[in-house]
Amino acid sequence: MTARIIDGKAFAAGLRARLAARVPSFVEKTGRAPGLAVVLVGEDPASQVYVRSKHKATVEAGMQSFEHRLPAETSQQALLDLVAALNADDSVDGILVQLPLPPHIDDKAVLAAIDPAKDVDGFHVVNAGRLAVGEEALVPCTPLGSLMLLQDALGDLSGLHAVVIGRSNIVGKPMAQLLLQQSCTVTIAHSRTKDLPGIVRLADIVVAAVGRAEMVRGDWIKPGATVIDVGINRVPGAEPGKTKLVGDCAYDECAAVAGAITPVPGGVGPMTIACLLRNTLVAAHRRAG
Ligand code: GUN
Repeated sequence: MTARIIDGKAFAAGLRARLAARVPSFVEKTGRAPGLAVVLVGEDPASQVYVRSKHKATVEAGMQSFEHRLPAETSQQALLDLVAALNADDSVDGILVQLPLPPHIDDKAVLAAIDPAKDVDGFHVVNAGRLAVGEEALVPCTPLGSLMLLQDALGDLSGLHAVVIGRSNIVGKPMAQLLLQQSCTVTIAHSRTKDLPGIVRLADIVVAAVGRAEMVRGDWIKPGATVIDVGINRVPGAEPGKTKLVGDCAYDECAAVAGAITPVPGGVGPMTIACLLRNTLVAAHRRAG
């Protein structure tokens, strides 16, 4: 079997267009566009790229983008003061503090300071708790985007066995919660899991979110399974000095066995920003009442 390629780039473009089409009625109702504030501390090159693409996508969707770039030596208190100001600012519906933060700043304290109603990353414990008990929550963007791709590929997920590889608060745990809500049988595997290949072989759905380049091999995949590759790993390319992006799954091997698979790049990645815009619009509507 050769897997169908799940085109996350195209799906994300469609989602962004649908969101942009819903902005004018919000503007008409409230007299302002939904607003997303993104805070970047320091000069991490990857973070700078992410923040730039978030700004571009926000503006393209007709929303307001507020960018706050602070020097790496910014104190934790100064960052907390900025978060408090953004919490109090009525034109701001969503707040995203780009991670990682410099080592002298406690990211838990900063995330906890964000108003849960504006927590478009879905990282606040209040949103994690609401997701876990099935209450209305802002859901982390990468797992939300992964779920959308799965539902588009498979329709009803009920009764399917999903194996999530990775137990991070940002992807693995919320992904497992979302799949459970869809009535999947969910296994969370991680670095200490015994016989990982044997467990992955049971899965109708594999979500790989471990951050280890090409760890999941083709012979781990049950024929016809759907593979969602969340990994973005930079590895040496074919030419000396060049690098390339690969996922957590060995793509060619897995695509030869799976029923459907997300590529890297062009799979889950583009969904993350689209879901950030979706969360911003959702937060804006909830705040506007
Ligand atoms: N750094 C890398 N990805 C993310 C993300 O989705 N949200 C935040 N806040 N920081 C990140």
